[in-house]
This record gives sequence, structure tokens and C-alpha cells, in this order.
Amino acid sequence: MITKPDQSTIQSNAQPGAQPGAQPNSAGSQASTMWGGRFRDGPSQVMDQINPSIDFDQRFYAQDIAGSRAHAAMLVAQGIISAKDGADIARGLDQVEQEITEGRFTFSRALEDIHMNVEARLATLIGDAAGRMHTARSRNDQVATDFKMWVRGAIDNIDAGLKALQAALIDQAEANADVVMPGFTHLQAAQPVTFGHHMMAYVEMIGRDRGRFADCRVRLNECPLGSAALAGTSFPIDRDATAAALGFSGPTANSLDAVSDRDFALEFLAAASITAMHLSRFSEEIVNWMSAQFQFITLSDSFTTGSSIMPQKRNPDAAELVRGKSGRVIGALTALLVMMKGLPLAFCKDMQEDKEPLFDAADTLDVCIAACVGMVTDMRANAPALRQAAELGFATATDLADWLVRSLDMPFRNAHHVTGAVVKLAEQRGCKLDELDLPALQAIEPRITDAVYAVLDPARSVSSRTSFGGTAPANVRAAAAAARARFL
Ligand code: ARG
Repeated sequence: MITKPDQSTIQSNAQPGAQPGAQPNSAGSQASTMWGGRFRDGPSQVMDQINPSIDFDQRFYAQDIAGSRAHAAMLVAQGIISAKDGADIARGLDQVEQEITEGRFTFSRALEDIHMNVEARLATLIGDAAGRMHTARSRNDQVATDFKMWVRGAIDNIDAGLKALQAALIDQAEANADVVMPGFTHLQAAQPVTFGHHMMAYVEMIGRDRGRFADCRVRLNECPLGSAALAGTSFPIDRDATAAALGFSGPTANSLDAVSDRDFALEFLAAASITAMHLSRFSEEIVNWMSAQFQFITLSDSFTTGSSIMPQKRNPDAAELVRGKSGRVIGALTALLVMMKGLPLAFCKDMQEDKEPLFDAADTLDVCIAACVGMVTDMRANAPALRQAAELGFATATDLADWLVRSLDMPFRNAHHVTGAVVKLAEQRGCKLDELDLPALQAIEPRITDAVYAVLDPARSVSSRTSFGGTAPANVRAAAAAARARFL
């Protein structure tokens, strides 16, 4: 699970009980110590509400402090600040980190964001040396670096969750490799498949989802730090050193690009949206399968709820919520795309709006994955009901057509036509295909023999589908074993 720092204390700029308004909040409010040089008055009260990001960007305090540590160490190594100042900064940062981790830190909205909150506290702790830490960097490269590191961590967390989901699905596939069920198209019975094959379909989807996150991680992993505000810096910094210290593959190549794009966040959200869509489809199937009309699976008390009025009910709430929450993840992608699309280079404050949707999407996906792992592990396939359903809806009609092609050398189109007539007859008689007697079949196609009955059985149908990627139980077992090697 992704852990959130507890909210600690947030100190507001606004006077208690004051109406947020457009008036300048000059009484008692001073210009920022961070940029106060050319400012006389403090911000309007409404700025206290619209401007700060500290309420949410405190979530990457650990990344922010790690970035500052790496930056300060590099400044020392390059002779840009003294070793003494570097040591004071490192010690002070340790203390700030400890205070935040332990919930003893008072975050201030007046200080806007995590970057300035950390630096201001550092100044209280170590004095003037704190002011040297910001040499050769800006909050613009800082926030891009912090956010990338946070997203990188979220990717690793999601990947672990998706891997656990694949493991649970593969277990179900192996346990139910022989369990015959109807495969659907248009939600109409189409051809028999195995329950194991159906589980393995999701293993493949989740595998591609993991691939998308992995691709995103590779592209994301270039370090913006040292791009400074937008143009780079005149100080002799070593960007390779900070990139390496923070686990990046190297520094970003263009300072403008580094501070002004959020495509890494968008890629993350695109991968998250596709994953959420897959989980939503799976959940939709669980909802269907659990109903009295299907009875394909059962879920225990752990993932279902009862109704306060209807005693017979067992509702698939977890699955419904995974399906419903996918909308939030997709919404986050849309929000960020729309926010970014009109921005000129380089940094614009609009981009501060990148964090909340992404955090929400990451948290949402995290809990959805956990719920799916739980449901897949908990779920029991109802083999008799699945088999019975496979016998409904003439699901072996294609097998009959294939038999006509193979045994009578009929062109497939003709075989399709003959099979259609057989299905029509069964429909009229209200029976299954294999309940039609041979004379009835021969009245439609005289060359049909009783060998045809073998292919009308759903279990035989699935066993015959041995083409690579097909549903035969032997294939499912082989696919599950291969998937263990590929994915787990
Ligand atoms: N709080 C800002 C953000 O979340 C950090 C960067 C602010 N930079 C600036 N020039 N105001 O994106």
C-alpha cells in the first residue's frame, strides 16, 4: 500500500474566522521571506486558499529531502559551498525529515509548498547555511524531480500489486484448467471455453499493463535537478552526480523541457487508466457471474455485503467499487491532459494542479488492485453451473460446422448453412444439439453419421481447441506454466 504522511499540523495564513476575499491582507501580513526583496505587502487572503500546495505536496517530503541532500552534497563536491555548510545542511535535513515522519512538523500554508517548508525549517535549525542550499537550483527543477521520484515509487508499488494479481489468476487458471464454461461474444453464448482460459486472458492483459508502467518508468527516469528555473545555471554543477545519487539513469538533456513537461505523469495516468479499465471489466464479469442468473462463481463474506432490507442478498460491492472507481482514474488522466495542453514553456503555476489527481489515481488503483487480488483468491468457480451453461445456447454449433468441413469436405460457408438449419431444428424442438436424433440430422444433411455426437459435447469441444493460444485444458496448463516464468 502507498503510505501517506499523516496530515501533521497545517498552519493557515488566514485570520481565524476571516472571510476569504479579494482584499489585500496587509494588516499583520508580511511579504514572503523567500522572495520578499521586491514585495512590500503580503498576499490576499484568497491566496491562502488558492496558492499553496503544501496540503498535498507534503506527500513527497521524503523525495524532496533526498533531492536536497544530493544537491547539497554535489555543491560541496564541486566547491560551490563549504564542507561545513554541507555538513550542517545534511544534519538539518535529517532532523527535518525525522520531524515530518514523526508528525511533529508544523506545515505552513504561507510557505506554499514542501520545498519552502523544508527550507524554512532548515533555516531555523541551522541558520544561514540553509540559504546556500538553493544555489544552482529552483523549485521548478526541484518539484519535477520530487514528483518523478514519487511516481517512480508508485510504479514500483503498482507493479508489485499487479504481479500478485497475476499470481492469483494463474492459481485459479491451474485449479480450473478443465472447467468448461460458455465463452461469450455480445454476451451471447458463443463457444465453450475453460474457466482457466478465461483467467489467463486477464493474466495477459495485466502483463501488458505492467509493461506500460515499466516503459513509463524507463522514460521517466531522467533527472531534472540542476535545470534550475528554466535555463540551467552558471555554477559548475555536476548533474550526473545528483542524477546517480537519486537513482536516475542520467540527467535530462534540456533544461526547458525538464521543468515544463509532465508527460511522465500523463504516461503514468494513461497506464493507470488502461489498468483500471481492465480491472473494471473483470469486476463487471464478477458482478454478472455472482448473480442468481449466472451462478458461475461464489465469493465469500469477505468481499460481499448483505442488504439491510432484503435478507437473501449477497452483493458484490468490492467488484462494483472497482468498476466504479475506474472513472476516477480515467478522470485524472483527462484532467491533467486538459490542464497541460495550453501551457507555453516553461513552468506555469497551472502545473501545481498535476499532483492531486495523480495521487488520487495512484491511491485508487492501489486499493482496486488489492481488492481484485482478494476477490480472485477468494473466488470459487461453480463447475456444475458453468458446465450446464456451456450446454445452453448451442455453444458447440461451430464444432458441428467444423466437423462437416473436416469429415464431409464441405466448404465452411455451406457447413455454416447446414449447421444453421440444425440449430433452428433444435430451437423448434426445445432441445440441445446432441439431443437431436440421427434421422433428424440426416434429413438436413444425409451424409452426417453418429460420429458427429462426439464434437457436440462441450468438454470435447474445448479439448479439441489446441491451436496455440487456444482454450484446450492442456494449453491452459502450458500457458499457466509459461506465464509463471514470464511474469512471476
Ligand atoms: N508548488 C509548486 C508546484 O507544485 C512548485 C513549483 C513552484 N514554482 C514556482 N515558480 N512558483 O508545482
